[in-house]
Amino acid sequence: MKILVTGGAGFIGSNFVYHMLAKYPGYRIVCLDKLTYAGNLSTLESALKNPNFKFVKGDIADKEAVDKLFKEENFDIVVNFAAESHVDRSIENPELFLVTNILGTQTLLDACNRYGVKRYHQVSTDEVYGDLPLDRPDLLFTEQTPLHTSSPYSASKASADLLVQAYYRTYGTPITISRCSNNYGPYHFPEKLIPLMISRALADESLPVYGDGKNVRDWLYVEDHCKAIDLIIHNGRVGEVYNIGGHNEMSNIDIVKLILQYLGKPESLITYVTDRKGHDRRYAIDPAKIHAELGWLPETKFADGIKKTIQWYLDNKKWWQDIINGEYKNYYEKMYGNR
Ligand code: NAD
Ligand code: TYD
Repeated sequence: MKILVTGGAGFIGSNFVYHMLAKYPGYRIVCLDKLTYAGNLSTLESALKNPNFKFVKGDIADKEAVDKLFKEENFDIVVNFAAESHVDRSIENPELFLVTNILGTQTLLDACNRYGVKRYHQVSTDEVYGDLPLDRPDLLFTEQTPLHTSSPYSASKASADLLVQAYYRTYGTPITISRCSNNYGPYHFPEKLIPLMISRALADESLPVYGDGKNVRDWLYVEDHCKAIDLIIHNGRVGEVYNIGGHNEMSNIDIVKLILQYLGKPESLITYVTDRKGHDRRYAIDPAKIHAELGWLPETKFADGIKKTIQWYLDNKKWWQDIINGEYKNYYEKMYGNR
């Protein structure tokens, strides 16, 4: 089996590469990644030593490069993780999100049709469903929930999902889509909530909480997401959407306080800052379909996953300090300087 993993130098893609190499020693895994600010080759250091793994630097929206790679490799399965993934950046510069997340998806779908790929899997997000109210805990996102996006990021992901479904209907492209809730775990880029708070708390720096801190996200350990995608690409029904989430809703402020508690740092580091524009209030996934059809259930409880994650950031300081000390410094100043 030959699998193309796009965006494999990023957070979830790299965890997926390691999951697949460990579980399927007979598979060949090729990673196509543009190495944007979010992609990091050092993340794939161990994978690069595996003869079954190959890294190719390139853009999923570059038709010629994609065509050349598909011609050379004859992939059985394509799993598309590559995306611009940060909501705050999409508010500053939407265009890049449309190019990578929509046109990049179209470029990959066209190549799948041209070269007869047996499965194209689109890694999507629960953010395509918009948000839920805080006072209705009974409401969850199902696969039937209408798409209703808030940010340029989520709009670009929803557009890509519609395109993937259109290719299934129009050309019969063998697709599946998964929509997962917020992930956490190793190799999470330190601009996102959990790694940002861990890295700043360790440096005794202020922790910027948006708005009232009561926004709720449904957190899933990244390995559980990878296992769900593994099940979908092997056993999922073509043309279907699968929601992935572990019924683990937490408010941002509770997460930040938990991190401070584990690190033995004071709550006085918490600083409430101006809210994100269009900030989604609550996400919550109903994963009943993937459980019933594929037997998937999350294995890592949040209490264990967050401890493992914090320990990983303590053990791998060089990985995130290299990022924080680079171009990222300017980003932090620009995004948070006057907030
Ligand atoms: P990430 O930002 O950590 O990684 C994205 C990767 O894609 C990077 O390695 C980057 O270099 C690469 N990339 C960006 N543009 C590219 C292009 N044009 N061509 C090739 N490579 C390109 O993102 P992530 O958090 O790992 O998310 C991966 C996927 O999962 C995304 O599609 C995202 O929408 C989705 N998702 C993420 C979460 C989450 O909590 N992080 C939850 C649900 C779904
Ligand atoms: P984030 O990790 O950006 O993921 P997403 O917006 O895709 O869910 O943010 C998670 C939550 O944390 C979201 O409600 C915004 C909030 N947040 C902060 O309060 N402060 C921060 O510095 C960041 C990056 C996020």
